[in-house]
Order: sequence, then structure tokens, then C-alpha cells
Amino acid sequence: MKRRRFLGVAAGAAAGAVGCSDEAPSAADAGGAADAGGLDAPAIDGSSGGDGAVAGPCPEARVTLNVPDPTAGAVETLSAFALGVMAGDMTDTRAMVWTQQSGNMPISLVIQAIDAQGRLSATARTEALTRGDGGFVHADLGGLTPGTTYVYAFVLGAAGQPQQRSELGRFRTAPAPDSMGPLVFGGTSCTHQRMAPFPVMAAAGRRDELAFFVHAGDHAYCDGANDAASYREKYARHWSAEGMRGLHRAHGLYCTWDDHEVGNNFDPETVNPAVFAAARRAFFEHLPVRRDPAHPERIWRSFRWGRTAEIFVLDCRGERIPSTQSTPEAVYLSRPQMDWLKAGLRASTAVFKFVINSVPITNFPEVFDEMAFVRDRWEGYPAARREILEYIGAERIANVWWLSGDFHMSSVARLDDTGPGAGMTEVLMGQGGNLGNPVFIVPGLTDRLFGQNPRWDYHSAQQNYTVFRVDPSAPSIEVAYYDCADRELFRRRYMGQAVTG
Ligand SMILES: [Fe+2]
Repeated sequence: MKRRRFLGVAAGAAAGAVGCSDEAPSAADAGGAADAGGLDAPAIDGSSGGDGAVAGPCPEARVTLNVPDPTAGAVETLSAFALGVMAGDMTDTRAMVWTQQSGNMPISLVIQAIDAQGRLSATARTEALTRGDGGFVHADLGGLTPGTTYVYAFVLGAAGQPQQRSELGRFRTAPAPDSMGPLVFGGTSCTHQRMAPFPVMAAAGRRDELAFFVHAGDHAYCDGANDAASYREKYARHWSAEGMRGLHRAHGLYCTWDDHEVGNNFDPETVNPAVFAAARRAFFEHLPVRRDPAHPERIWRSFRWGRTAEIFVLDCRGERIPSTQSTPEAVYLSRPQMDWLKAGLRASTAVFKFVINSVPITNFPEVFDEMAFVRDRWEGYPAARREILEYIGAERIANVWWLSGDFHMSSVARLDDTGPGAGMTEVLMGQGGNLGNPVFIVPGLTDRLFGQNPRWDYHSAQQNYTVFRVDPSAPSIEVAYYDCADRELFRRRYMGQAVTG
């Protein structure tokens, strides 16, 4: 346990500052989860950039996809598909597609490839689908073409009769496993309904250059939910917001969860098992995540994007054992997950390895450790953190990048001053739709914490989404942050290590 010291900041301000994961419930959440951290949400005033608001006016949250309709005239009926559509977990030949639809009419999916000019190519494919409990529709489509953009819609009604359709969705399949070309993708985290209609998400949805989008968790804030119905109600509020719907249908998704998909800073050892089961079920109900038949509860999984990138999606929340955290056997990821990550990173033939890591692994300044907050992240499980970083160092695994969320701030920093973490960078994506980390409202504090620390290249509490432009031949990564109006907040190119073999 580190000594409590507030770096010269008034104790009250610092106490609020470090507790960004302990969020005050919004007015809409009144009666929901208690504010475990005692954090009062700062007022949103769009001027300072220090409170997580926005730097200027946001355009409307509408996303218009410039794609043709593959359904041959079905009438778009938003009311029949109020939670929108999604695709996700793309491989080179497969993708999950998702919607929710509560009616009784036959439901099908129409999907068609589009060419580089945005025109429909080949012929439309129609798949009859079935609804699961709650009207949730998940379909794992096979037989897709690598490196191809698809447009899709869900359709109600029998063939040959007047039909209703969902909004149009779009996704891209991964390129062929041995291909190696440039990749541009986006990501964010922490999208609370208080920021509906989510103009930052809409801006990301309008950015056509993205091959896919990563959400690093706190995708929906479900605090206070305790059964299937209440979790569904929380997701519905988030999913039906225009900007969220727009992002979901604009790009294929790779998603994990963080704490708020269950409840603020929940402890897997003490959480009510029925509540945890309801939360996990709701996560799978509401996202296009492909489940492993042998381990259907697992969230961790990986995806190749040719030889350019491999994406390792972690579950940093659901398998940890907090009672072990100060022991040599600290379990932050379960043993199977840790071993899978190590083996996967070592075996990867991709130039860049992106670890989607909901809670940061960077060694943050001590003020972040003062409260219970350190218990929440890799630093609170030092043996586990050491194990993975030393393994990456010892095996000389090149170009591992950690893409994270949870802290309600943007950050680009090396993990440590010395050791293997000094050679790795973590990018905190977002927050995409929430208040900023209150550490930013203490005058001068963030400049002392980050601005004067050479490990940090960037820090901000403005709402944003992040774009990664990956060139595997250089190799290099450009990291850029954008706000709701696509104003560029930061952009820098980082050279990677050449990879042979
Ligand atoms: Fe969050």
C-alpha cells in the first residue's frame, strides 16, 4: 500500500480526482447505483477542455452512410429496429451480425458486397434468421470474401410482399491471412447515456476511412441493474441514441466490457452471482460477439488483420480474483487467459499486436494510487503485471501496443521509466461520451503529472475518439485524436521495429 500523499493538492480535490471510475449517477440514473467513490460530477461547460466536455460546438449526431440499399425497396422502419444493427468479430471470411426485433413477422438478413466505388457488386445474399429470447438476433455469417466491404440490412416480411427494413449497416472483412497492407481503425471507451445522442460516436461513424472500430468497455453504463429486464433497459437507452446507432452500423466492431457493464468497480468475488450472470448474459445479448462453444462465457478472443495486425481482446474484469492481488499468484487475468495472451503474442506473425485492455497498464503517477483506484488496474496486481511485461521483454516480442479505456482521459505514454514497459506504449482511447477525469479540474495538476513527464506524449480530458493509421511496411503507427466535429486534438507518428520472418 502506498503512502497517501496528495502531491500538494487539496485532499478533497485529489480524492475526487483519482476516482474517475467511481462515477456519480446521472439524473437519469437516479435511484440506481450509489456513488461508491463519493465523486461529484463536475459541471459540463464546453470551454476549458479540462472537464471532459467538448472544445466547441458539435454537429448533429446523424450518421448518413453513403452506401446503396441491397434490399430492393424495403421501407426503412426505425421503429421496428429501435436498437439499431451491428456487425462484429470479423475474420477474413466470417462476421457476426446483430439486431433486436420483437415482432412476429419473418426476419431475414440481406447482405451484399460493394466495390471500391461504393457500387453493389456480385449478387445479394438473403438469410432467413430466427430470434432468440428477447428478440435478439445473432447470425454468424460464413463464406465472405476477404478484404471486402459489405452493406446489410435486416428485413421483415415474406419475400414478394411489402417489406420493412432496418437502417443499413456496413462492415469490412479482414484481409487474407498472408496479406500485408495499411490499416486504419478507430476506437474509444466510456460512453455514458448522459452524453446521448453521442456526437463523438457519430463523428467516428462518419469517418469512412475506418476498417473497424474498437470499444474498450463501459460501452453501456448499467449501474443499478440487477436482472435481465433491468440490464436490457439500460442497454436499450444507450443503443437507441442516434450517435451510438450511427457508429454501430457504420463500422464492424471488436468489443470488450469494463466494470459498468456489470456495476461500478464490481468485485467478481463478492458480486451477487445472479446479478453477474444477468450482466454477462446482457453483454452477449447486445453485442455481435462470437462465442466459443467450448467456453461460451469467455469474452477474451483474438483476430488477425492479415499480417498487418493482430487484435487481442482481453477480459480485464470478469476473471480477476481481488483477494490475490498482493500475492505472488495475483490473478488479474485468469490463468487460461494469461497463458493464451502470452502464447498468442509470441506466436503472432503480425507486425503490430494490439491488446484491447479495458483498464490501463501504464504506471500512472502516485496520485492515481492514493485511493482504492490502484486496486482496479494492472498496477494493483503487480505480480500479474510483471509476468506479462517481462514475458514480452524476454521473448523480444516487437510492436505490442496497449489500447485501453476506463480512466476518462486520453493518454499516450510509455508504460514504465525502465524495464520492458519502457519499450511499450499505451493509448487511452476516449472517453467517447462521458465526463472527463476530475484530475483535470485541479488547476495545474495535469501539467505537473503528465506535461512535465517525458513518458507522456499527450493527455487530455476532452471527449474524443482515436484513430490508428498503421503502415506495416515502415513499420509505423500514427495515433490521432478527434472530437465531435472532427477537430484534430493530437496526431503523432511512431516508428515500430522491423519484424522479420
Ligand atoms: Fe467509464
